[in-house]
Amino acid sequence: QPKYRKDYQAPGFWIHEVELWFDLGADGTTVRSSIRFERNAAVTEPGSPLVLMGEELETLRVSVDGKELGASGWSATATELTVRDLPGDSFTLETEVRIHPESNTALSGLYRSSGNFCTQCEAEGFRRITWFLDRPDVMATYRVTVTADKTKYPMLLSNGNRIEEREEEGGRHSVVWEDPFKKPSYLFALVAGDLHCHRGTFETMTGRTIDLEIYVEHKDADKCDHALGSLQRSMKWDEETFGLEYDLDLYMIVAVSDFNMGAMENKGLNVFNSKYVLARTDTASDADFEAVEAVIAHEYFHNWTGNRVTCRDWFQLTLKEGLTVYRDARFTADKTSEAVKRIDDVQGLRAHQFAEDSGPMAHPIRPEQYIEMNNFYTSTVYEKGAEVIRMYETLLGRDGFRKGMDLYFERHDGQAVTCDDFRAAMADANGRDLDQFERWYLQKGTPTLKAVGCYDEPNQTYTLELTQSAPENEPHFEPTHMPVSFGLVGPTGADMGLAFEGEDASKAPTNRVLELREMTQTWTFHGVCARPVPSVLRGFSAPVNLEMERSQEDLAFLFAHDSDSFNRWDAGQTLFKGVLLALADRAAKGEALTLDPAVVEAVRNLLNDESLDGSLKSQAMSLPGFSVLSQARTHVNPAALIEARDFVIETLSRELRGDLLAQRKAARPTGAYRADKESIHGRRLANAALGLLSATGEDDIIEMAEEQFAAADNMTDSQAALGCLVQIPGSHRTQALQAFYERWSGDALVMDKWFAIQAMSRPFDVAAYELLRAHKNFTMENPNRVRSLVGVFAMQNFRGFHAQDGSGYRAVADAVLELDSLNPQVASRMVRALNPWKQFAAPWSDLMKAQLERIREKKGLSKDVFEIVSSALG
Ligand code: ARG
Ligand code: ZN
Repeated sequence: QPKYRKDYQAPGFWIHEVELWFDLGADGTTVRSSIRFERNAAVTEPGSPLVLMGEELETLRVSVDGKELGASGWSATATELTVRDLPGDSFTLETEVRIHPESNTALSGLYRSSGNFCTQCEAEGFRRITWFLDRPDVMATYRVTVTADKTKYPMLLSNGNRIEEREEEGGRHSVVWEDPFKKPSYLFALVAGDLHCHRGTFETMTGRTIDLEIYVEHKDADKCDHALGSLQRSMKWDEETFGLEYDLDLYMIVAVSDFNMGAMENKGLNVFNSKYVLARTDTASDADFEAVEAVIAHEYFHNWTGNRVTCRDWFQLTLKEGLTVYRDARFTADKTSEAVKRIDDVQGLRAHQFAEDSGPMAHPIRPEQYIEMNNFYTSTVYEKGAEVIRMYETLLGRDGFRKGMDLYFERHDGQAVTCDDFRAAMADANGRDLDQFERWYLQKGTPTLKAVGCYDEPNQTYTLELTQSAPENEPHFEPTHMPVSFGLVGPTGADMGLAFEGEDASKAPTNRVLELREMTQTWTFHGVCARPVPSVLRGFSAPVNLEMERSQEDLAFLFAHDSDSFNRWDAGQTLFKGVLLALADRAAKGEALTLDPAVVEAVRNLLNDESLDGSLKSQAMSLPGFSVLSQARTHVNPAALIEARDFVIETLSRELRGDLLAQRKAARPTGAYRADKESIHGRRLANAALGLLSATGEDDIIEMAEEQFAAADNMTDSQAALGCLVQIPGSHRTQALQAFYERWSGDALVMDKWFAIQAMSRPFDVAAYELLRAHKNFTMENPNRVRSLVGVFAMQNFRGFHAQDGSGYRAVADAVLELDSLNPQVASRMVRALNPWKQFAAPWSDLMKAQLERIREKKGLSKDVFEIVSSALG
């Protein structure tokens, strides 16, 4: 059943041109196709049959070169159409099928959302629309005619340029679209509906004017400005940074409220989860605004990295996703703060990707096999993939990276290629050997990087020994080519020169990228005139676990002084992590907990360091989360981890009360809401301070939160205050939730927040979960709503999910079983919460496993969920 990367074969036929006619109806849709095929002589013998892919298609008619085929000319199974007796090496095949978007709850292929039609074809959804060679190396030009009722569906959209519109009988109309760029079927899109169009333009670097159109439901017409601005900024940035200009004359974005993922880069017609389009300051937080801009940029950047140059096969997914995440991260860094963005990204990487990489679904960024491709849209392919791209940049420099990109487009524009082609372009453009670098694509798991430093006072040298070692789950590990960014921090807190033998330390660079290629290598720096503190893996220059013996004093010193903002933050994280794990071990034995005052002082120093912006301060005081802590242990006792974390949070809250109050007061922007950088940093710090303060539940802090909640003119402050109030059982919680509900029950995206804030709150147990599960605003058919309640409960509410009686696991498994029949892709995301069962101590591990087994028993389980559950149990 699995497909393997090593089995790749070119397609048996090529497709040059596709013409499609859609007749959209309330009760079924007819799709007619006319496809120009050509035998691929390298693969297919003359006279071989043509085999096309399809799913849930009712075949009405098949003809070849205008002649309808009788029953003997073709045969169809549930997934394949075979056509025999082909007239020659090239021919036109016409088919007509009937499909049912109106009952498509899987949200793959053509489906309905809020009464409109839309599509999602990546990875293998196009075959749910018509019979096709639905694989990314088959690229064709498309001409599409969409016909539908004119009153219900005034807007009929598809890829490319709108070339004709006409009236039809019976109040219907048709629009014809032509996409001149060859594309794989996964980039096909169609949208039909009654939508508001928010328009803008962009003038490209060569002076062309591009029409920009953002389509949303009419009620959301006043939430489009930020999306449009984001698109314009993305277009400009890609021209300036990579010299890449948009190619068509029209760029459309459609927001839909039922969407499995974030968004989709269909050529000229992006379809988005409305969460990543709609933003108004009273309904969307600062973080939401940033996410909208990042996702708009991501999908826009795909036009070059994904669409103009696409993937040869789905094993290569990271070719476009890793690269495009890397590009959107650079964009966000440029638009916001490089340091803050880097820390946010690494925090996410460690919490999700590192966990995935050490669990049952661990895979290389270029997987070797899959059963269901949709299961491999993972943080490994995306986020670790982006880290691997970032390592090229670290090794080659910004300019070298740009040269590699230029060569990549020069060689491969219009082609479907592989990760090896990308690596070859990077190597050739820079005259570098990057053969060893392939191991980042071949090996799964997170390598460990061990660093040992030694200061030789008499000789004034510092020797650094770096050793890489295999992840536990990668038996065939070979040493990677790993860039390790490095510095030495002197006793004053300033960086020291890094001079190799014979160099002058006073003129030497203070930061170097050391290239580790062997298992172990050493570097010696000269002229080191005082005992330094080493700063290893600056900027998180490689996606590895750093292991280094360091005293609390050295960590506190780096936390206070490292010139590398990432390592400065990370020193704090390492310090906290050690403290939290030691406390958790004590808690597990029922021992009393105490917090070293030095830790409190380290945080106090950071809070009062006026060289740091509010976002960096808020990051500095955020403790490593449950996922990061549990990765550091086997036989995790979740109750002990939670107790240790609560204890540290409450202690910091009490000990830093005065500092936190002062910081909040100073940081809060005054006057009406503004979205400039300063105000955003200010709100982030003020709300982090409020959050930490509220951990003790004191009356004056509750009052403060209530005041902020009542007065807020923006979602950032309102949501943060609500987030504090819901932690306190009783009337503060219920009243705030009620008020929020009354104000926002008509806004789906804000209601998602209402569900999520409760689902992650402290007093939220399985009983509370069941109540919300039965709430009239809850539905299993909307992925955003499911993620807000089930997803947040399972992945962010460790107290409730890991309840010692197993009730949390059972509730999530119930949801998975229900979802499996409705929407396998979403079900297969939710079930992953049970994946790390082996990591937990008894009784948790057995209880989790029992639910996985219960899910596996279900008759007719989707292959999406089957693949996850069987690898977890396997
Ligand atoms: N290519 C899209 C993006 O990263 C993701 C689409 C994935 N969809 C899916 N159903 N697997 O922007
Ligand atoms: Zn993407």
